[in-house]
Amino acid sequence: MWLQIITITTIIVIVFIKWRLTYWKRKGVPYLEDTEFFFGNFRKIMQAKTSFSEGYLDFYNQFKRKGVKHGGIYSMLEPMYIPIDLNLIKHIMLKDFQYFFGHGFYYDKSELLSMHLFNLEGDAWKELRSKLTPAFSSGKIKTMQDIFFTKCTILEKVIGKYSDNNKPAPFKDILSRFTIDIIGNVAFGIECNSLEDSDCQFRFYGMKALQVNFFNFFITGIVPWSILRKIEFQQGASDVRDFFCKMVKETVKCREDNNIVRKDFLQIMLDLKKESSNKSLTIEEITAQCFIFFIGGFETSSTAMTCALFELAQNLEIQEKLRQEIDSVLEKYNGEMSFDAIVEMSYLDKIVLETLRKYPPLGSIPRRCTKDYKIPDSNVIIDKGTMVWIPVWGIHKDPDYYPNPEIFDPENFSEERKSKRPEFTYLPFGEGPKMCIGLRLGMLQTKIGLITVIRKYKLTLNEKTELPMKIAKSVLLTLEGDVYLNAVRV
Ligand code: HEM
Repeated sequence: MWLQIITITTIIVIVFIKWRLTYWKRKGVPYLEDTEFFFGNFRKIMQAKTSFSEGYLDFYNQFKRKGVKHGGIYSMLEPMYIPIDLNLIKHIMLKDFQYFFGHGFYYDKSELLSMHLFNLEGDAWKELRSKLTPAFSSGKIKTMQDIFFTKCTILEKVIGKYSDNNKPAPFKDILSRFTIDIIGNVAFGIECNSLEDSDCQFRFYGMKALQVNFFNFFITGIVPWSILRKIEFQQGASDVRDFFCKMVKETVKCREDNNIVRKDFLQIMLDLKKESSNKSLTIEEITAQCFIFFIGGFETSSTAMTCALFELAQNLEIQEKLRQEIDSVLEKYNGEMSFDAIVEMSYLDKIVLETLRKYPPLGSIPRRCTKDYKIPDSNVIIDKGTMVWIPVWGIHKDPDYYPNPEIFDPENFSEERKSKRPEFTYLPFGEGPKMCIGLRLGMLQTKIGLITVIRKYKLTLNEKTELPMKIAKSVLLTLEGDVYLNAVRV
């Protein structure tokens, strides 16, 4: 009897899985032939044999080779949709945005840190985005100049120690600490001192928050959110939550008790908290936003800086040309770095843009379909709830848009080449209403770091750096292992 029940149940489960994995075929959307039982197309990613970004690059290339305008894949049993055609991408990210309102990551009131701008959807997201947008204006960011420049002085000193001792400097580690110190300061108003303190807790919990828990990812992908919300499912680690909540609570209390006013994001949000209008924010909302600014802001920019320096250490002519630009612009400003001076550095701008092309920190960008959507010029309906992944890295490495995509060439961003490229071929910050709110700050932070280093040090690759560099098995597109460079004072 038991044997029969087990056999019948097993058969039902197998038939269900097989049926589930024909979802795209039934919809008439191109799919990949190597879809595997249970894993779908995600086995290599789940077994950490390939990174998330490389996985999506491969999906893009396979569909592109087929010459199709879109395709469907499976993350285990969950169908995911990948648009390839640029016009279709424009529809999803911009024109028909109302059908793709969210990033598709689970959030719930019972888990305070999940209620941030990146996760929220619909009207709650819209309202919050409009409250926070003014905080990222260039005027507001300019008021934070001093925080940035103080950290640059420390960065220069840290590299100087390696240089003076003729030791290769581990740039990935140093720059990650540098951005933690800046973002920790401008988001939370806290001196993290991670450049000087190797055991910095901010760094520990920041890195932990960026780790993917595949089990939770899977659960939130297949179990209806209404059920997860009923049982108050918690996806993040409790120590991460406790750490960040305590930080914000203590800082806010200290400021309110002592009437301290600082020029940072926390202050801008605290000022909103005092407003009685509908622009007001609660302390819970503030905590979640501080958290996403920190998580969204440190590793993205430090990865961009590390990758830029990795390329500059191998392209010495580009490095020298950049140094000359920095010197000549700063000469006009009496050798003082300022935001106005940075705006004048057009070659630096091209270098950062090219870095983010070759190494976009988010190799693919998610969207969740929030209403059934008919793909333009076809009969295909994307069902409500389906995850859509915009294959950013695939597009950035597509020779149809960037000839010789593996070559680091800042001239890809000359006015002439930019004007010849179709729209939606450059997406490191996303596009449309959900585009990165911290774009300006991210660009600025990356540029400031590069100026600080290149102005004072000549960089070459040290043999401790393993070549060819591999991509790390993490959510963000980042290099595996550290990037060791010889830094010689100019
Ligand atoms: C080089 C640096 C950065 C890169 C490459 C980057 C990239 C991105 C990307 C690709 C998205 C998703 C956009 C979309 O869905 O269309 C995003 C969203 C976001 N980023 Fe950034 N980012 C950077 C820096 C920052 C900084 C410095 C902050 C904050 C201090 C920040 C905060 C956010 C937030 C809050 C969102 C969610 C926006 C929303 O959903 O409305 N980012 N970022």
